[in-house]
Amino acid sequence: MAYELIQVRTEADKVGVLTLNRPKQLNALNNQLMDELGAALKAFDADEAIGCMVITGSEKAFAAGADIGAMASYGFADVYKGDYITRNWETIRSVRKPVIAAVSGFALGGGCELAMMCDFIIAADNAKFGQPEIKLGIIPGAGGTQRLPRAIGKAKAMDMVLTGRMMDAAEAERAGLVSRVVPLEKLMEETLGAALQICDYSQLAVLAAKESVNRAYEGGLSDGVMFERRLFHALFATEDQKEGMDAFVNKRKAAFKHR
Ligand code: HXC
Repeated sequence: MAYELIQVRTEADKVGVLTLNRPKQLNALNNQLMDELGAALKAFDADEAIGCMVITGSEKAFAAGADIGAMASYGFADVYKGDYITRNWETIRSVRKPVIAAVSGFALGGGCELAMMCDFIIAADNAKFGQPEIKLGIIPGAGGTQRLPRAIGKAKAMDMVLTGRMMDAAEAERAGLVSRVVPLEKLMEETLGAALQICDYSQLAVLAAKESVNRAYEGGLSDGVMFERRLFHALFATEDQKEGMDAFVNKRKAAFKHR
């Protein structure tokens, strides 16, 4: 598939890098862009050589939200029937390999929601996060009112969603929205470093780890602990567990079979 609104490349033949590419509109999201993103993520997920994906934008904007110009004239019937912009967000959730968001500049509205749908966020020091939908007479529509409170707690999430204010990278890190903040010029180096590190581990363990952490995020504690225990035990049926532990015992680097 030829992509118009995103750029797709691989790093070291192992990491799938997806760059949102509507610079004039600060990467405002529309159906075409989201369709392309979904298709590219699925293709990387199915590609045996790829171990991890990175979604990024430009220096100025990861994404400034859904395309307001495109939405402005829509009525209820249009957005409801067409499931406007949110129609393939579940595709992102269904990706089994890790997806890291590398965020510089604005991550607002749907842009913040897109970053939160990734498995973790690494932010440049110029990143700004926000859910400004309230200023447009709407509310977040792609998980913002659900994922933000889970990530940063009710008080801050209410503040962000009700006032529409932006949070800078330092506050986002303190609040637990992002996992690391790095200087802008180091953003891709740091993110690709993390992605390549993940690619070197047993993919069986990586998939199980992602699935299990998501269980914590979405369900109750007892079920989550039981789910984790089953996966933990199951990994003892893999060659990679033997290799990983033997490598540790014999003080050598593990060479996992399933990468
Ligand atoms: C369409 C957008 C846009 C958006 C920016 N642009 N954000 N176009 N949709 N969300 C366009 C501007 O119109 C402008 O085009 C160009 O990008 C540069 O933006 P400026 O405003 O001139 O830049 P700046 O002054 O630096 O301000 C940056 C900004 C501001 C703070 C990010 O653009 C802004 O507030 N944007 C809207 C953010 C927002 O409300 N997001 C939530 C959208 S609703 P021209 O042609 O004039 O140069 C949403 C709902 C999600 O996301 C629902 C589910 C997915």
